[in-house]
Amino acid sequence: MRFGTFLFLALPLAAAAQTKPVAARVDSVLALMTLEELVGQTNQYNGFWNATGPMPAGNEWVAARVAALKRGGVGSVLNVAGVDEVRALQKVAVEETRMGIPLIFGLDVIHGYQTLTPIPLAEAASWDLEAIKNSARAAAREATADGINWTFAPMVDISRDPRWGRVMEGAGEDPFLGSRIAEARVRGFQGANLSDPTTLAACLKHFAGYGFAVAGRDYHTTDYSAHTLYNWILPPFEAGVKAGAATVMNAFSAANGIPATGDSALVWGELRGRMGFDGVLVSDWGSIGEMTAHGYAADLRDAADRALAAGCDIDMESDAYLRYGVELARRNPTDSVRIREAARRILTLKFELGVMDDPYRYCGATKPDVRPDAYEMAVKSSVLLKNSGVLPLAAGVHVGLTGPLAAEKNGVLGNWRVSAKDQSAQSLAEAVAGQWTYVASSPHSVGQEAFHAELTLNQTDTRANDVALKALRKHDVLVLAVGEHGNESGEGRSRTSLRISAVQQDLIRKAYATGKQVVLVVYAGRPLVLEPWIRDGAAAILWAWQPGTMGGSALADVLTGRREAYGRLPMTFPRSEGQIPLSYDGYSTGRPGPKPEVFWSHYTDESNTPAYPFGFGLSYTSFEYRDLVVTPSAQGWTASVTVRNTGTRAGSDVVQLYVGRQGNGQLYPVKALKGFKRLTLEPGSEARVSIELPLEALTQRDGQGRNVLFAHGTLTVTVGPHSQDGLTWTTQMP
Ligand code: NOJ
Repeated sequence: MRFGTFLFLALPLAAAAQTKPVAARVDSVLALMTLEELVGQTNQYNGFWNATGPMPAGNEWVAARVAALKRGGVGSVLNVAGVDEVRALQKVAVEETRMGIPLIFGLDVIHGYQTLTPIPLAEAASWDLEAIKNSARAAAREATADGINWTFAPMVDISRDPRWGRVMEGAGEDPFLGSRIAEARVRGFQGANLSDPTTLAACLKHFAGYGFAVAGRDYHTTDYSAHTLYNWILPPFEAGVKAGAATVMNAFSAANGIPATGDSALVWGELRGRMGFDGVLVSDWGSIGEMTAHGYAADLRDAADRALAAGCDIDMESDAYLRYGVELARRNPTDSVRIREAARRILTLKFELGVMDDPYRYCGATKPDVRPDAYEMAVKSSVLLKNSGVLPLAAGVHVGLTGPLAAEKNGVLGNWRVSAKDQSAQSLAEAVAGQWTYVASSPHSVGQEAFHAELTLNQTDTRANDVALKALRKHDVLVLAVGEHGNESGEGRSRTSLRISAVQQDLIRKAYATGKQVVLVVYAGRPLVLEPWIRDGAAAILWAWQPGTMGGSALADVLTGRREAYGRLPMTFPRSEGQIPLSYDGYSTGRPGPKPEVFWSHYTDESNTPAYPFGFGLSYTSFEYRDLVVTPSAQGWTASVTVRNTGTRAGSDVVQLYVGRQGNGQLYPVKALKGFKRLTLEPGSEARVSIELPLEALTQRDGQGRNVLFAHGTLTVTVGPHSQDGLTWTTQMP
């Protein structure tokens, strides 16, 4: 009997079924399924026309996949988008398989679908949870109108290593900010009810520790302590689970000798145990099969067995469950139970998404115009790192624009542009056409630009740099759009050097030599290392990240002051690659220094301090902080501070609260973010800002994952505009 037929033809029965709770409905479907069909639900295939991972060789596999689909061997797909394609595939699942169970359609809707918002790291720089939630909401509205009902986002991996290209996809280095952003994104994607056809099931990834890849090299083994696991890596997952994330994805990486996809203790102990996650756990692309490449599993059968034991419900693109699931279940009753439980969780998600009641639920809507949302997010994401007063650009100033990214319409979209049209971003040059003069400089890259391919940089040809600067010699201010193309960060795009490319450095050096005021607009998917001469020579530096479809007008509006400089860094900017990993919340060490001799924890050739600290970002006005008062409250403490706008225009600042602890029998970071609030002030006005600090926020996990309350020692509260500045209050706990 086909489930689809059962639903649509046997209406009285279907109606009765729909009044039952989901669990009962899942049970009644499970009862009708063969072992082969249960295994089929755990198998996820990629749509072969739009891949985001390494493709299997040959063509015969396509026919094999279609055959698998028809015999109920596929439960979900990824990278199939567009109402026609989704409908076509769904029709096969519903009408040509014995059970007629609909597919779910997953896609990497990471920073937008066809309309791209800024990369997630850029969005994190807004420190604006409502805006971030709205951005995820906009992405969901657009993607669901095209048949998608599951996104592989948000990535909640904490990382302190900007060499790792995937920092572009996360929320930066801090577990508190990362947790709040994880919640905001989950709520934005999922809305209040998953069956609402404008919402997407979210997926917290990558469980766990992927952001700690050794030396920042993607797919590398990770190395972190239990303390790091419990206090940095897991908190954003826990927050996302609490916010209701429907799914979680395994990491590619391995830790403690075990690939994450086979790590039973991590999944059963932490994710499904301590966090209580009862949704669907999906492997990463091929990560079950890759357990053999790691040297962990003997072969694909063994890998399937280990992944099943480790609670992985869906096999994305390894073909391991489909090939060996039935055999494993017949041989081992425990595997049989595991497969049934995996199918149960998958069917539950299908009911929750509403596709069991209407397989075409996500195929009907008109696509909304979410460009205003993308614009708003792009305005809020850029970070002003330096300003000698040249910004905002005054009316009447003659501005010359150049740099390889000024007219760029692809690279500025960011790395996860699976569904965006080529050349679909509005460039900065387009946004200021008719107002500034744009002249092209030497190109940043040569040859093909593709998601799968290395980008080849232009290493030598600086001819157009000279031409551009000559053409712009009569202008008052030069704006240089430089940095990284979107295909220089993201998956598989780790870098050992985080410098601006040589040809762009040539342009910057020559622009400085003109003696004009030079504004650097830096597009990047990560913190870069700006050498002192670059930082010193610039009249202003605006960090644009990869701002997405509407980046051009958003940046133009910030540069000209129509909108304020809003962002604050979610990641520390190092002075040199040698300092990496670097974060604001390190431990003090036994030799903090500085000392007038060498025997303290430092480098002999570089300072310990960052180029730009976590939480930092200028605005077009200035703020003064005073009168920090911390008082006991029912939950812990309340910190209040007066903030005054001492400048001449309205603006907002993010008031940040950090804590330090000493003497509780465990190391604690020198400071840790525990709260923040943005406030907007008119020039000359002031306001009192209060931030709650619940005692619970001071709880730390020990090496076994147990909560350790802060009960003894010194507590330091710092409230200020970024992690290296603020007013301090100290108290002694009994
Ligand atoms: C591999 C990536 O690691 C993961 O984040 C992504 O969701 C999958 N590919 C699917 O494209």
